[in-house]
Amino acid sequence: MQIFTDNMSKILFTNIKQLNGILPKDTQLLKGKELQTIHSISNAYLLIEDDKIAEFGKMSDCPTGTFEQTIDLKGQMILPAWCDSHTHLVFASPREEEFVDRIKGLSYEEIAKKGGGILNSAKKLENTSEEQLFNDALVRLYEIARLGTGAVEIKSGYGLSLEGELKMLRVIKRLKKVSPLIIKATFLGAHAIPAKYKDNREDYINLIINEILPIIKKENLADYIDVFCETNYFTPKETDRILKAGAEIGLQPKIHVNQFTSIGGIQTGIENKALSVDHLEIMTEDDIKNLKSSNTIPTLLPSCSFFLSLPYAPAKKLIDNGLPIALATDFNPGSTPSGNMNFVISLACIKMKILPETAINAGTINGAYAMGISDIAGSITKGKKANFIITKPIKSLALLPYFFGHNQIDKVYINGTLINPNQ
Ligand code: NIG
Ligand code: FE
Repeated sequence: MQIFTDNMSKILFTNIKQLNGILPKDTQLLKGKELQTIHSISNAYLLIEDDKIAEFGKMSDCPTGTFEQTIDLKGQMILPAWCDSHTHLVFASPREEEFVDRIKGLSYEEIAKKGGGILNSAKKLENTSEEQLFNDALVRLYEIARLGTGAVEIKSGYGLSLEGELKMLRVIKRLKKVSPLIIKATFLGAHAIPAKYKDNREDYINLIINEILPIIKKENLADYIDVFCETNYFTPKETDRILKAGAEIGLQPKIHVNQFTSIGGIQTGIENKALSVDHLEIMTEDDIKNLKSSNTIPTLLPSCSFFLSLPYAPAKKLIDNGLPIALATDFNPGSTPSGNMNFVISLACIKMKILPETAINAGTINGAYAMGISDIAGSITKGKKANFIITKPIKSLALLPYFFGHNQIDKVYINGTLINPNQ
């Protein structure tokens, strides 16, 4: 599949109504009140060279000379492409039957108990070839690129066996090679206890630690390690053991925690120097206090709350406590069948009551931090990847979340290349 149009080496964008998301090179993330400001230049130009941002500034200082292309953006804005730091976008097939069961009144947990949920996806994945998984995931990647996502983290976790987990991670490794999106791979073998280990969960954890991790190390198949630390899934003690084994092969944790219950998983994540703790629909005062003395970023997934009718994570409270937040989709076939970051930004404003600027920062620079790529993505900064969104002509950035469910994006550039809207 040829996905992207030909690369141009130098492209000048002129008459940009507002160039948004400008940050100094050394800004890794934004916290507390800082999140409320988006630094921008009105009536701006932007020059990109190959895959990088080369120059930008006021139109009055616009460079002259010859460029492969000059594009007049009168009335249109630019902002950094989304950095979606939490997805499960490699999966075998949708689970619309569970969706219907939930409409009829069953809860996510009840569906999981009767063999649905993650175990359902694992069964489906077992019977799907690596080739099929790769092709389907590539289509999804291209779909989210058109929606403005320039960087994405992808988890395993629907294999739940040596073969299945490695199959997923090899698919992600292949996606990294062919896709212009920045991709980070996370090993989530500890997503659920597989049915055949129901009565000997210790054996499954041993399989993860003693058999799967060494192959991941040998084949360099993952950047991060994740555990679903939750009642009925993995305890904080088990989580601690798995994270420590991951650290031994250089995998930093990014964990699922506090989705349904607060059982001490946040503290376990922090103690293991987690880059992010994700979900956080249920938070205690202690959880918040612990996060304040860490470098771990709380990552919130509002479209999961929307789809499952769960409480929304307390974004405002976290920010009022001076913390950073990242926003991500959680794209997966069970709890969030959507990889649309624009909808996430809208929901964060509407349901979590955070300002449009805050939500946009949380989905760009802070998303970049939550996947360890702040130095190359997440803002308009000289030398960073030319990954950005060109809006339709709009008067203010707040119109992006305001028109929820509508598309305010005209074009997307990833790696300095225009994403072809027709493929
Ligand atoms: O992040 N909560 C754990 N894992 C996924 C859902 C997985 C599934 O239902 O397939 C999540 O919501
Ligand atoms: Fe998830």
